[in-house]
Amino acid sequence: MIEEDKKLIQKVEKEIEKHKELIELDPYRLQYHLMPPVGLLNDPNGLVYFKGKYHVFYQWNPFATRHGIKFWGHYTSDNLAHWKKEPIALAPTDDFDKSGCYSGSAIVHDDQLYVFYTGNVKTERDERETYQCLAVSEDGIHFEKKGPIIHLPKGFTPHFRDPSVWKYNDRFLMTIGAQTVREEGCVVLYESENLYDWQFVSILTGSNLNGLGKLGYMWECPNLFSLQNKEVLLISPQGLEPSGMFYNNEFQSGYFIGDLCEESLKYEHGPFIELDRGFDFYAPQTMLDDQGRRLLFAWMGMTDNEEKFQPTISNGWIHTMTLPRQLILKGTKLYQKPVEELAQLRKDHINYPMVQLCNEEKAFRDVEGQAIELLIDFIDTKELEAFSLTIRHEAVLTFDRNNGTFTLSRTRLSDGKTSESRTCRVNDLFKLQIYLDTSSIEIFINDGEEVFTARIFPEPDDDSLSFAIEGMAKFGLSKWELESGLV
Ligand code: FRU
Repeated sequence: MIEEDKKLIQKVEKEIEKHKELIELDPYRLQYHLMPPVGLLNDPNGLVYFKGKYHVFYQWNPFATRHGIKFWGHYTSDNLAHWKKEPIALAPTDDFDKSGCYSGSAIVHDDQLYVFYTGNVKTERDERETYQCLAVSEDGIHFEKKGPIIHLPKGFTPHFRDPSVWKYNDRFLMTIGAQTVREEGCVVLYESENLYDWQFVSILTGSNLNGLGKLGYMWECPNLFSLQNKEVLLISPQGLEPSGMFYNNEFQSGYFIGDLCEESLKYEHGPFIELDRGFDFYAPQTMLDDQGRRLLFAWMGMTDNEEKFQPTISNGWIHTMTLPRQLILKGTKLYQKPVEELAQLRKDHINYPMVQLCNEEKAFRDVEGQAIELLIDFIDTKELEAFSLTIRHEAVLTFDRNNGTFTLSRTRLSDGKTSESRTCRVNDLFKLQIYLDTSSIEIFINDGEEVFTARIFPEPDDDSLSFAIEGMAKFGLSKWELESGLV
């Protein structure tokens, strides 16, 4: 490790120590989600299964609860449920990454871990420079930086970042999120034979290309992968206007389903589909694990006007990661299911095998809490008109059978009074799996047909859950306490 890195990392350790006590006492500190030890966390990076462990790196500003100069923080796990904090993987100490080691990906090659990331540089005149960089590791913990491997090509602004690398037949491919000089978002494709020398191939797709209309001024965090004989491209576009139930957050995350031609490397695809329907979900990234599963993590956050009102800021930290989810393609729709291993967090099972509610509101004994999983299996919904669940007097989720909609509402942080909501189409409800942590909610509807992800900040000692039915419904209800996921 170079002297510069050592000094900076010691400074981070001091920062962690300084805030430790306050952070540990914060009632909104999550139980089983990945958080920054101090400061701000955003995108998942470098997701990979390497030498028997899952690795999650993340964008981390340890010195403030604002976006700024980013490091790569690091967690590992044997089972996707229990996580261990690892030393900082990348620190912004070189000329080519001095304003931040920005997002990127990882790939295993010849028993080594190669990570690709964006070196972000702000010049003295506040101009942005961008370098796509490589770092290599033998053990997955300590990295040697190899420096820039791609410089900004002509035709693009310096909003050119987030390299994502994968093996494709006999070569490697890389996508990069980009903005053209005409200020349109797109994904750029590169290829390489050895992971060091890269050639520009094409603009793979983008706003006003491939049959798409206008679709944003910048696309961040692309991730292209095969799933069930299709090629899925995840992107996080910026600059979409809200349209009915769609694009209601400041920035979006979603996907295309398509085919990549082996010869021409042309990508033909369908429309852009939003991935999560809640408030806080951005920059998702995936990995293939040793069982062949396509697993996704996303940042449970958003750079928007509400971000600065999050109450954890006064305790020196902000944001968290989503739970790991397995992606499954059904027709042209991606389903997200919480990974099975999360069942290892379960303890103290409460079960009501057959509940019948008829035009009434009800709380169930011991079905309450802060770090819990709820499973609601609908048995009879023929006469159901509406189902709703109020969580800790803070969030309400509602299935409206007549309108065929599912809605999540919560208190708006900026005024602490009014409520805001997100809605999507759901025609039938047969299953709800809900993960509540001290200040988060993830709702998986009908085995992952739709998912709502959000932060919520209820009164810390309010554990209440209240169910309401209009019409009649019968369902089975299970609840588990979930143990801590940080070891
Ligand atoms: C997405 C993003 C990426 C960038 C990183 C910086 O949230 O803006 O495009 O690499 O965050 O932290």
